[in-house]
Amino acid sequence: MIKKCLFPVAGYGTRFLPATKAMPKEILPIVNKPLVQYGVEEASEAGINEFGFVTGRGKRAIEDHFDISYELEHQIAGTGKEDLLTSIRDLINNNTFAFTRQNEMKGLGHAILTGRNLVGDSPFAVVLADDFCVTPEGEDGVLTQMVKLYKQFRCSIVAIEEVPKNETHKYGVIAGETMKDGLYRITDMVEKPSPDKAPSNLAIIGRYILTPDIFEIIENTKPGKNGEVQITDALLEQARNGCVLAYQFRGKRFDCGSIEGFVEATNYVYENVYLKNKEKKK
Ligand code: UTP
Repeated sequence: MIKKCLFPVAGYGTRFLPATKAMPKEILPIVNKPLVQYGVEEASEAGINEFGFVTGRGKRAIEDHFDISYELEHQIAGTGKEDLLTSIRDLINNNTFAFTRQNEMKGLGHAILTGRNLVGDSPFAVVLADDFCVTPEGEDGVLTQMVKLYKQFRCSIVAIEEVPKNETHKYGVIAGETMKDGLYRITDMVEKPSPDKAPSNLAIIGRYILTPDIFEIIENTKPGKNGEVQITDALLEQARNGCVLAYQFRGKRFDCGSIEGFVEATNYVYENVYLKNKEKKK
């Protein structure tokens, strides 16, 4: 039912300079796989097969990553390294990838609006690849959990997690009525509030399911915090006129937009995925 996913990837990734001077931060690898590929795999597992990317200048490597490299495949054909391309080859074969550019960085809300022509008129998912999410083996990924909820409630859903009070200024923070354990109906939302202005410690992370009426709401949303068109402002409007849910997902998130989160994620994947797979192959 949710078949499309938008990846806003136009940001400059300034926290990773100079690494991100000529390379998109979404291509930085967690061990041996680019951040953005983890996001696409999570969405693909949730039944999504059409991917739209809102890119910007200097992001060509993302397009190339989701395309076949005949030369490379030719080079490694018949060698033991062929397997290393299997995961990306499978994604390329089973999904479609489309790209559009956000010419000016006017905020996440504006980036999502820029992706409208890739998404059309159906409900869709949004993944911020720098929020890297993991769930224990055998459990649903975060987007799969959200798609299941969407089937039940048919309205926009944002993923949330508890953050320390002194970190609310990094996130959109919600207030809501509890519907059941871990599920809230949003009543208020503030973008990057200081701890004293935060309505709770429930912060929005980079996973959304949005109904398509959000586009018209974004069009009518004035620039907010930092002069950017904020998706939180548009979602608050949607919540006031209808319903937006906030879902405390099962799993763990790493903030790979920060150096600390990126290193933590790398250590986690090295120990829990890479070394385990190596052991299995022995
Ligand atoms: P961030 O502000 O965390 O990413 O935006 P950034 O700007 O790339 O990172 P720093 O702060 O300079 O290091 C969150 C997400 O929204 C996208 C970014 O690409 C990132 O995935 N985004 C943000 C856009 O695509 N367009 C925008 O105008 C703003």
